[in-house]
Amino acid sequence: MSLNEIVDKLSLNEKKLLLLLERLGGEASIEEILKSGGFRQQVEIMNASSWLKSKKLVEINELTKTFYSLDKEGLQFIKKGLPEKRVLLFLLKNQGCATLDEIKRKSGISSSEISIAIGWLRKKGWADISKEKDKVVIKVTERGKKVAKTKDEDEKILEYLYKNPDSEVEESRINNLKSRKNVIKSKLAKVYIIRLTETGKKVVKSGIRIEEEISQITSKIIKDGSWRRAKIRAYDIHAFVPSVYGGKQHPLTFLIEKIRKIFLSMGFEEIEGNFVESCFWNMDVLFIPQDHPARDMQDTLYCKKPSKIKVEDRELLKRIADVHENGADTGSIGWRYRFSKDECEKVLLRTHTTVNTIRYLYSNPEPPCKVFSIGRVFRRENLDSTHLPEFYQIEGIVHERGANFRQLIGLLKEFYRRMGFERIRFRPAYFPYTEPSMEVEVFWNGKWMELGGSGIFRPEVTLPAGVKEPVLAWGLGLERLAMLKFGLKDIRNLYIADLEWLKNVGFKV
Ligand code: PHE
Repeated sequence: MSLNEIVDKLSLNEKKLLLLLERLGGEASIEEILKSGGFRQQVEIMNASSWLKSKKLVEINELTKTFYSLDKEGLQFIKKGLPEKRVLLFLLKNQGCATLDEIKRKSGISSSEISIAIGWLRKKGWADISKEKDKVVIKVTERGKKVAKTKDEDEKILEYLYKNPDSEVEESRINNLKSRKNVIKSKLAKVYIIRLTETGKKVVKSGIRIEEEISQITSKIIKDGSWRRAKIRAYDIHAFVPSVYGGKQHPLTFLIEKIRKIFLSMGFEEIEGNFVESCFWNMDVLFIPQDHPARDMQDTLYCKKPSKIKVEDRELLKRIADVHENGADTGSIGWRYRFSKDECEKVLLRTHTTVNTIRYLYSNPEPPCKVFSIGRVFRRENLDSTHLPEFYQIEGIVHERGANFRQLIGLLKEFYRRMGFERIRFRPAYFPYTEPSMEVEVFWNGKWMELGGSGIFRPEVTLPAGVKEPVLAWGLGLERLAMLKFGLKDIRNLYIADLEWLKNVGFKV
């Protein structure tokens, strides 16, 4: 930008401030600028200077300075005089000499003030103190005689601070007074010094004309035609403005919304479920064997209160027990153990959202249906950069006549494609409730990453629910997906309340 262009974009206050700074020798504090006139309020100067700073025409330096005022005792000194001065004047009236007793009796000065005064008389060299027999004799010196007619440094400062409270005083000049009790009070305050930069100086030299200008167009200005005569300030579209961070969704919420929209747009309906479930619904109806390692205390969070949830439907309980024991009429031979009713009444925090879809199937056994859920699950995991004890699963089922494995693959591919992942692959896997089963993996940053499981529900799972047609099912991790989408190295970042991070995290598509 040329100097002319810079000048053109200056506001009236910016121009005024530049000219003033030049007049004050290129540098001044806000107070000095205020005193020299031209501005009514400090904020005007602060505003103009921060704009000029952003345009690199001034620098603003912040200094912390000490400002002094008189305290209680200091104000007394103003009224009565310094105690040493008062004793000095008494001594001079008394031919320049007196004993301590005489001073105490005749001067009318309190004895506590006298003892302070004696100390200072000696220190300042205004009097000599000696002992004659048992009497303390105080005798004015030459210096004392001189000072009686004038004011000493301390008195000058007292007077100055009396007239100008909150002023700066050189440290070495105020030390004496500061060493006395309750005479001086001080406070620290910030002082802003504004200084023209080299460019600032050049801009001032290039010539700045002060003229009234319009910085905001109003309907009034348009109606009365005054815009024709006035100068209208050019916008500086490169001017610095502070970043505004308005309310914004948490990245996870953002992602959940996106996933929700994808499934809704693919014709799915959303379902929900409970955090607290019985083993029966979370495990047994899904044909998870009762000695399965996932049921172990090491993997599952069980509840103490209540410690049991009874299966109300006794007939259903019997059916599931049979399926586990011998397969009942599902065509399976079952797990061939004795089913424990105690085991299935245990209470846990759901370990997967497959409990939501299986419950849905039990209450809606008639096809067709396409439902999904996005919900939290809980596992006894140790927290590390890729594991959380509490995380979200993206769960879903398709229940319809003729549903098949290829359809499941296509559906998951489509979901991930809409999430922005082109390369995904499926690997054979095992889950007690699906056959066939597969794992979904996506390719990201040169690596295959496991994102979830899927398969077709086994007859041991569907037939006891009265479901006859095939059910495609999947359960995918949300946080892993989020790590990829937000480029995170540590999954825990999603749950720390770090606003800086949240401000800057961006969705990578
Ligand atoms: N419930 C499985 C898990 O938590 C995922 C899954 C869901 C697998 C549905 C197959 C079918 O990992």
